[in-house]
Amino acid sequence: MEWKILRLDEVDSTNEYAKKLIPDAPEGTVVVAKRQTTGRGRRGRAWASPEGGLWMSVVLKPPKIDPRLVFVGALAVADTLRDFGIDAWIKWPNDVWVGEKKISGILTEAKGSSVIMGIGLNVNNEIPNELKETAVSMKGLLDKSVNLEEVLKKLLHHLGHWYGVFLENPALLVGEVRERTVLIGKKVRVLQDGGELVGTVVDVSGDGSLLLDVDGQIIKVLYGDVSLRII
Ligand code: ATP
Ligand code: BTN
Repeated sequence: MEWKILRLDEVDSTNEYAKKLIPDAPEGTVVVAKRQTTGRGRRGRAWASPEGGLWMSVVLKPPKIDPRLVFVGALAVADTLRDFGIDAWIKWPNDVWVGEKKISGILTEAKGSSVIMGIGLNVNNEIPNELKETAVSMKGLLDKSVNLEEVLKKLLHHLGHWYGVFLENPALLVGEVRERTVLIGKKVRVLQDGGELVGTVVDVSGDGSLLLDVDGQIIKVLYGDVSLRII
């Protein structure tokens, strides 16, 4: 993949910026900002994006929009962390965690036939007080600052790799996610629009959904606006 990197000092959200570039921006366009003033997670939740972190959005033009694309980002982040000696796991569907704390989140959005894959990774940034219990940065884990450019370079390399796998055979991505999630066998609470489900995770199925055992019944939880907590 040929990446074309646009660098900004400050922006509301790299996803919003990238969206405005579509449909003209070619596949592989990358928007990176030093800080975001209104970084967002899913459902418009705020994403803390002070200077020092990696806040970026990548424009992809897959042959078809597929919810499993989010795994391309999650696997690429996990591999990047591994390059720095950090062992991370994938919290289905869109987060990367180290131990009990979130280090990265991925927000994929479609516009026309393009996908904007937003990736937020806590690198050298401060974690705001209200998130200290649940969030961590690479600097916090390694006890030293990390070269942000190096992180970006490695992340783009891994994104290219996993996007290639996605184009060839998206089920392979799911296999990898299954390997790297600690959720299987865990009891979880899933919050959805329609209410909540409590069950034990049985598997991540080939289409990317989560299979839950709820009182002996297997329920399929589709990727979407779901929040998941291990209980
Ligand atoms: P969670 O990640 O708490 O399970 P979720 O994945 O459903 O929830 P998202 O919308 O994906 O929620 O992520 C947004 C949440 O991530 C915010 O509500 C906040 O709790 C957390 N968050 C915000 N900024 C950061 C950050 N820089 N690092 C880690 N976590 C953050
Ligand atoms: C999540 O966990 O909900 C996903 C968080 C995604 C954050 C990234 S930072 C770069 C891009 N711009 C945004 O506003 N959000 C994504």
